Amino acid sequence: MAGGILASDPPQHTVLRVILSRMLMPRALRGLGPSVTAVAGELVDRLVVRGEFDAVSDLAEAFTPRFVADLIGLPEEGRDRILEFGAATFDGLGPTGERTPAARKRQQALMHYVSTTAARDRLAAGGLGARVWEAVDAGDIDEQAAVTLMTAFLSAGMDTTILSLAAAVRLFAQHPEQWDALRADPSLVPAAYLEVLRVAAPVTVFSRVTTREWECDGVTIPAGARVAVLYASANRDERKWADPERLDITRRPADHLGFGVGVHACVGQNLAKLEAHSLLTALLARVHRFEIGEPEFIVNNTLHGLSRLPCRIVT
Ligand code: HEM
Repeated sequence: MAGGILASDPPQHTVLRVILSRMLMPRALRGLGPSVTAVAGELVDRLVVRGEFDAVSDLAEAFTPRFVADLIGLPEEGRDRILEFGAATFDGLGPTGERTPAARKRQQALMHYVSTTAARDRLAAGGLGARVWEAVDAGDIDEQAAVTLMTAFLSAGMDTTILSLAAAVRLFAQHPEQWDALRADPSLVPAAYLEVLRVAAPVTVFSRVTTREWECDGVTIPAGARVAVLYASANRDERKWADPERLDITRRPADHLGFGVGVHACVGQNLAKLEAHSLLTALLARVHRFEIGEPEFIVNNTLHGLSRLPCRIVT
């Protein structure tokens, strides 16, 4: 289980996956709904009064980390650091490059945080973190696997969601007619979020190792080869999507690959959707137009999206 949930195969993967799935299925998250809705409303109210803000730091980063922290049951101490960890984990994937040493350092900091500040005896009772450790007591997983699952929450569930929320603001600023359509029919919010993820997939690539020779579009991939699986590219494949660059909230792209596919498909997607649907709904009720300035983008081996998005709200 050395590679954690993402880099393990069944049957080891299944053990980890079952634990996380139980915690992150819609039924398990239902209790969180009202507080997510309330926080989304308060946050957007504040930003409307301000009028101008950065949609990354003041909106997306001000929203997601608190849910991840509350859900896991993290202690107050150190919560201000959890944003450091996610992007670094994704930047440590793939071939070694000039950013690798810094990414490794932050990954070690995450492991240290999980084993000290957020160690077992410092987690809130009833939170997902405590339940991971209960799985150790039940003999389902060992302690190392518990630490790995804790790091999975803190790495996989943070920047991915943040990037998607900021992308939504950018895309709806660039496509005001789509925002008008969404305001006219808020029942399209779930479909609209899927379409945002299709057009602006935060996770661009992960990899797999082939177990046998495989032919793909006339190219033979040998057995044992590491293959990059380009989710973001597939989401804009013109053989699958008509006019793929165009944001169209009526498309309902349920089979987009922004959350991956197969046994490793995103186990946290219900949480991401809960957050995004709440935030979009809060924005819909209060925002007539987004006006944006020059966006800045992150540089990361795996993730794509915004590091800064100056934004002005017109009500
Ligand atoms: C918009 C937000 C998100 C996006 C775009 C996203 C994307 C992805 C993708 C593409 C995969 C598949 C990896 C693969 O095929 O190898 C994945 C897996 C995973 N995601 Fe997410 N994710 C998001 C949110 C979350 C959240 C909120 C959590 C946790 C609370 C989470 C936890 C995980 C975990 C643990 C896996 C590994 C699952 C496995 O290997 O079985 N993700 N995610």
